[in-house]
Amino acid sequence: MGHKIALPCQRSYFSLDIQLAFTRSLMGWHWSSNRRVMPWKGERDPYRIWLSEVILQQTRVEQGWSYYERFIAAYPSICDLAAASDDEVFKQWEGLGYYSRCRNLLATARFIADKRAGAFPVTYEGILALKGVGPYTAAAIASFAYGLPHAVVDGNVIRVLARCFAIREPVGDPVIRRKIIALAATLLDVDHPGAYNQAIMDFGATVCRPQAPQCSSCPLSAICSARALGLQGEIPAKAVRPVRKTRWFQYIHAGHAGSCLVRQRTARDIWQDLHELLLVETEGPLTVDALSALPLSLGLRPTGKPWVSDECRQLLTHQEIRARFVRVQLGRRDPAPEGYRWMVAEEVSRAAFPKIIQAYFEYSGTFT
Ligand code: ADE
Repeated sequence: MGHKIALPCQRSYFSLDIQLAFTRSLMGWHWSSNRRVMPWKGERDPYRIWLSEVILQQTRVEQGWSYYERFIAAYPSICDLAAASDDEVFKQWEGLGYYSRCRNLLATARFIADKRAGAFPVTYEGILALKGVGPYTAAAIASFAYGLPHAVVDGNVIRVLARCFAIREPVGDPVIRRKIIALAATLLDVDHPGAYNQAIMDFGATVCRPQAPQCSSCPLSAICSARALGLQGEIPAKAVRPVRKTRWFQYIHAGHAGSCLVRQRTARDIWQDLHELLLVETEGPLTVDALSALPLSLGLRPTGKPWVSDECRQLLTHQEIRARFVRVQLGRRDPAPEGYRWMVAEEVSRAAFPKIIQAYFEYSGTFT
């Protein structure tokens, strides 16, 4: 089968022969040997593709798989998703993290249902204009759903191209990134853009992996410059790790007769829109005595000695949360501190909480 790539850039830094060989070899591997199975693969419905791509934006395929299936079962069409309540959809999203994706998902579903009579945009520009859709997601949807010639570029693609074409400069540098984006566009198989994009994603995930790339069985090994130079481990040049800020959260789980104190987070901060227990944030860790004294200092009247958890940690991209939970039984529903309210256990189980609180609930249970 012939492979037509996008007009190779005449001023390209890379030889035309290698560019053609790259696409030919990648597509050959895809048609003959790519065995990766995923529920959204080969899908043509733009709603389903969009949903899968938003889930996969910051989530591994293995983790996103069951979420995708649950979403499709609960909301078979974009209008079903648009009609669901915020709370219900956030609950479905619980555990996936990066909740702005969920907010954008709902906003976009409602925009398409209300303003476009449920019709998904059919152009790359129209797709790119949707909330929560960047160039990668737009290229994936446009190529998978409509066969439009747009190449995906993400960390996986950058790694594959940087290795094959021995791009040794730091790939985080915007100039280098632009160079790779231009190269990616020229490599696209314009007759099969969707298959090409799926091929390069799968190839990056299964063969040209970040660690332990499978060079000995790689279909590109004959043309891979990193392999020829023995630089697979050095390329792409490692990015400097982000410095994480540590935050200390003390959560008071104050309960009475099946209810506990909860609020919904609204500030422009982590976990926006999720629920949480009564939070006391401090600049450092507290002693067990200080933790035990927290309920009283907040005006609550415990009936017994509080139980205090060990430290639990949750790593976010730019922050590390160190949390301790103080579980305390109250003699009555004391007045809720500002911003909080009493929530019954059944409502607690339907509300979406950050992973660290969900894990605590699974361990300790809610008040019954
Ligand atoms: N990551 C993002 N989109 C993907 C897809 N369609 N298949 C596999 N991995 C992906």
